[in-house]
Amino acid sequence: MTVEKLYSLLRDMSLEEKVGQMYQLMALFYDEDMKGVLTGPAEHMGIGQEEIRMAGSILGTAGAEQLREFQKKYMEHQPHHIPMLFMMDVIHGMRTIFPIPLAQGATFDPELVEQCAEVSAKEAAVSGLHATFTPMVDLVRDARWGRVMESTGEDTYLNSLMSAAVVKGLQGEDMREWGKVCACIKHFAAYGAPTAGRDYNTVELSEHTLREFYLPAYQAGIDAGVGLVMTSFNTVNGIPATTNKWLMRKILREEMDFQGVLISDYAAIAETIAHGYSEDEKDAARKALEAGVDIDMMTGCYAKNLAALVREGTVDEKLIDDAVLRILELKNKLGLFENPYKDADPEAEKTLCLCDAHRKLARETAARSFVLLKNDGILPLDLSKKIAFIGPYTDNKNILSTWAITGDSGDCVTIEEAAREVFTSERTSFHAGSQILGNEVHLTGFEGAHGYQAKSEYKSSEELTRMLSEAKQAAAEADLVVMPLGEHFLQTGEATSRGTLGIPDVQLQLFREIFTVNSNIVVVLFNGRPLELREISEKARAILEVWLPGTEGGHAIVDVLTGKVNPSGKLPMSFPYSVGQVPVHYNEYATGRPNQPDVEGRFFSKYIDIPNEPLYPFGYGLSYTSFEISEIRLDSPVMKEGTSITASAGVKNTGDRSGTLMVQLYLRDLKASVVRPVRELKGIRRVTLASGETEKVNFEISEEMLRFLRADGTYGSEPGAFRVWIGDSSRTENCAEFRLA
Ligand code: BGC
Repeated sequence: MTVEKLYSLLRDMSLEEKVGQMYQLMALFYDEDMKGVLTGPAEHMGIGQEEIRMAGSILGTAGAEQLREFQKKYMEHQPHHIPMLFMMDVIHGMRTIFPIPLAQGATFDPELVEQCAEVSAKEAAVSGLHATFTPMVDLVRDARWGRVMESTGEDTYLNSLMSAAVVKGLQGEDMREWGKVCACIKHFAAYGAPTAGRDYNTVELSEHTLREFYLPAYQAGIDAGVGLVMTSFNTVNGIPATTNKWLMRKILREEMDFQGVLISDYAAIAETIAHGYSEDEKDAARKALEAGVDIDMMTGCYAKNLAALVREGTVDEKLIDDAVLRILELKNKLGLFENPYKDADPEAEKTLCLCDAHRKLARETAARSFVLLKNDGILPLDLSKKIAFIGPYTDNKNILSTWAITGDSGDCVTIEEAAREVFTSERTSFHAGSQILGNEVHLTGFEGAHGYQAKSEYKSSEELTRMLSEAKQAAAEADLVVMPLGEHFLQTGEATSRGTLGIPDVQLQLFREIFTVNSNIVVVLFNGRPLELREISEKARAILEVWLPGTEGGHAIVDVLTGKVNPSGKLPMSFPYSVGQVPVHYNEYATGRPNQPDVEGRFFSKYIDIPNEPLYPFGYGLSYTSFEISEIRLDSPVMKEGTSITASAGVKNTGDRSGTLMVQLYLRDLKASVVRPVRELKGIRRVTLASGETEKVNFEISEEMLRFLRADGTYGSEPGAFRVWIGDSSRTENCAEFRLA
């Protein structure tokens, strides 16, 4: 549709019809004939049949046939036959579920992540969807927050790369193309910094920190052309983000130049009443509209109040027109006016979703997201040994996540299933050993929706004793034990903040029991957040971090355990020594009294009972081979105005098998008008080398990479000395210095 036609359509719409475009309901509000039905939630929201029938978008339902039917009936009664927008959370896969976003961050490879997003987009598009609420690009530094699993970690640069990659993968060059859907950058802003790691909690950040570290990943998604941005639930420095005019109008729209549709998070407009910021729903609706929120997700605030607010002269209709125009433009960019069904195709849905090629990518991505945290040489497994797999994740299909709402755990390959394909059965045994959680622990997910277990399966004490003794006997008879342990998938995701970061007690007990009979233990760790691993790290001979690995998890784990794939993942978030360090991140500022572990004395910035450093730092991850990185060479010690310099180092595979290293470049501005982080990631190179092979890795360092938010509020670089590191983790000491003239 031409822009002129869009304008004339807008002019022709009644106020109620326009307002209808501005709220989003769940599909369960409709009956088969697409008539609004007054279900419980609708009554609760105080909206009636007419408002339901007029809504411009729905969330939370997929299926080509169903959505085609839905669209047809909806458009018949929509006064101008404007198509409806279908949105859903396709967070790390539609039917083929990839590893969780935090794990994807661990690949350190935006190209691979873009490919996963492309596949998710195809599967979502043929299933009838037009838009998905992903990527979540919130910077995270606090492992207590359950939603760290949805982010790509603690680093601004890595998050920005991943943000752009996912947007490109989902939307392509043109959302109208087959197999593309609209992406949504969320949650604007700083949702990842809730006080004390408690979900939905207050966010207090200096404007400097917000701008310098938190905003860039949202900006990267906007620069990549994202069509939607979602507001966050939290307050930002005292004002709820959803009604925060400064944040939305000034920062997001004006400064960051976001032209697309701004949608609230689920019920976030009405929640500004509970925040103590809005008087009632009408006041909340006015404030959200004035802040620039175009779509109200799942409250009656807009539906019930916007028309009245215009008619009584409290708000200018122009605000409504601007919002509706943006929504119509989005529908137009998706090509819905010409083809309201877009790519919804029941046949393609059957053949494409979970096809072999998609499973293959899921397997490769999972394997590349695994991080080898420890290995004394026990891995890869020697298949001639007698191996016992012991742990509740040995044969467990719940390895997706709470956010894999379009996936099906029944599709997953377990470790046992995958291992049986390659291990000889007489020398291998498989045992759960314990539950994931104890009988007394109850967790809830999105109940009912996809048959999630709301609590751990009950086991009698006799059964538990039998499970343990069987496992111990198998361990005693085996040469080595592989222990798949970890968090329950319902322990991570939305509303799953934790005050402790251990693996569940019942599993720690199992680990201790097994250790008494066989200390040759390889732990395979499932989790959605960094955990406290001290004891496991001291006792186990190897730890393979596998996150929540998705549909092909079992295959990928066996690929890595057996050495078919050599691990190359790197931690996107620091694993704390203990929860008392949290929030802990590598790119902190120096203090005036930096800790000097080798010097006696108390007046240093340190803990008296634990080290300052996390147990496993950002960027860390081992390989089955070893690499040597030579000293850095700079092509010039001085960067003159308008030029760049090149830092290079030779990377040699010094081990006896081929392997891949994610080589990392870090920079520090040694003195500036505001203090700068002790180091910051600024470049990544993927290097794959055969045993004995060497490759020179070059990083071009431009003046742009040295810029930051200066004391006077401007963005730019300052002349002076800089340090550069090239290495295999954020702890590398391989450095050189140069000056910016
Ligand atoms: C979450 C969003 C999500 C939305 C819609 C909210 O609870 O915070 O991330 O996209 O629900 O399902």
